[in-house]
Amino acid sequence: MASNSNLSLSNRDSRSLPVTQGRLLDFSDNPFACMRRLYRTHGNIAALEEQGMRLVFVFGPQYNQQVLSDTRTYHSRFFAIRGPKNSSQRRLTCGLLSMNGEEHKRHRRLVMGPFQKKSIETYRDHLVELAQQMLRDWQPGEVRNIFRDMTQYMLRVTSSILFGFDVPELAYEIGHMIEHWVAMNHELGMGAFISDPGITSSYGRLLELAEALEAKILAMINLRRSMNSPGRDVLSLLIQARDEDGAGMTDAELIGQAAVLFGAAHLTTANSLTWNLFLLTQHPRVASDLVDELMGNLHGEAPTLEQMDKLPLLDRVLKESMRVLPASAYSQRINVEPVELGPFQLPKGTPIIFSPLITHHMPDLFPEPERFLPDRWLELTTSPYAYMPFAAGPRMCLGASLAMTTLKVTLPLIVQRFRLTVVPGATINGAVRSTMLAPTNGMFMMVSDPTAPFAATPIQGNIHEMVELPEVSVSIAANAKAA
Ligand code: HEM
Repeated sequence: MASNSNLSLSNRDSRSLPVTQGRLLDFSDNPFACMRRLYRTHGNIAALEEQGMRLVFVFGPQYNQQVLSDTRTYHSRFFAIRGPKNSSQRRLTCGLLSMNGEEHKRHRRLVMGPFQKKSIETYRDHLVELAQQMLRDWQPGEVRNIFRDMTQYMLRVTSSILFGFDVPELAYEIGHMIEHWVAMNHELGMGAFISDPGITSSYGRLLELAEALEAKILAMINLRRSMNSPGRDVLSLLIQARDEDGAGMTDAELIGQAAVLFGAAHLTTANSLTWNLFLLTQHPRVASDLVDELMGNLHGEAPTLEQMDKLPLLDRVLKESMRVLPASAYSQRINVEPVELGPFQLPKGTPIIFSPLITHHMPDLFPEPERFLPDRWLELTTSPYAYMPFAAGPRMCLGASLAMTTLKVTLPLIVQRFRLTVVPGATINGAVRSTMLAPTNGMFMMVSDPTAPFAATPIQGNIHEMVELPEVSVSIAANAKAA
């Protein structure tokens, strides 16, 4: 997800919970290493404690289900920096991820509309157009930072889907500002966590940026309200949405939902696209079989919504890629009353972290968890609380279908049109930033025409701790059917 860690800390005792004494900063510095160490040391539930302050971690389907299905007890508190009451910052951080109880239920129903199949059909054509536009710039023989490409592409995609295809530049301007605001929230959230003295001046700048951003979103809302025919973008649909009593959302509520939707969609999808392309390029056999499936059915084009459901290898590749390297590495809840979690008593107000990344690498759930094996999904069925790239339960990702459509349009267009290989010797590092698993050194790939062979290349970096890559000697000649 696209914002920051909101780690207010519990300082009460919860006896007999397995505890590692350590620096809480170890978690914010390197969430992956910290969570993995806790899991390996203690198993499915553990706490990290410093001077009586505890963060509790749960891994695996049983605890995930307990925490994620009981929304009455376990609340979501997503943003660390809420800003003063009646401030733009407060309104911008009031979206779904900060709501709980009846308010959350009502808003979730209202926000759901633009993410139903009927609306996704219209987004599909725009996705194709934007992907084609991006690919027109790619030239065989060049090296590209694919992570930067995917981030910029998703900025265009998210801006237009949320704010309008008919006013792309204005939509993009808002998207760009939200991107900046999300990054600043993250920086400051971390600053608050480590008591950074520089935080005060940054806080002032954040509040100013929030004001400018709110004014822009409001101008867009007013523009939409003044138009004769309603737009088909998410914001226009949200303006029209009504609950059972016929009530719609206020401007302040629309502002909060727009900001959170953008933050939730942009980098999660950009990271997923990047990791997918990385895993494919480093697994030439899978890539070659996938291109065969796509060329055989799509002949170089993007799938229609009907075709998307008939590409079984594409399904398995996406599923496996989001298992091995899920964009959302962890998220958190806080219990609003004392609770029994498994055999342990937790005092009210305990921050509880759950992690798709660690759960997806549990060997009892996924044999040989570090290997990228799309065909494991021919046989494997799992609980929604074991395989959970979009989380699970009543707060499961609202944009999962849109995200899957984006992946299913974009990846086929790229891999049918170009052969990508990671630059030999590149350092591929993954780190969890702002709850998301992202490449931190970019993702530099050689772009070739589709007659080039599929080939894995030797690489360095901590990615080897997360995924076991095959022999680099594997190189597969391109099929004559290539586009
Ligand atoms: C591959 C891309 C995506 C991934 C991996 C992803 C993952 C997630 C996860 C794990 C959660 C649960 C967070 C929590 O409970 O703390 C979540 C929630 C959410 N996501 Fe996504 N997401 C993606 C794309 C999108 C898109 C495209 C949108 C909409 C435009 C979106 C909108 C939301 C919203 C609104 C929530 C909050 C739901 C609620 O609290 O009721 N996401 N997402």
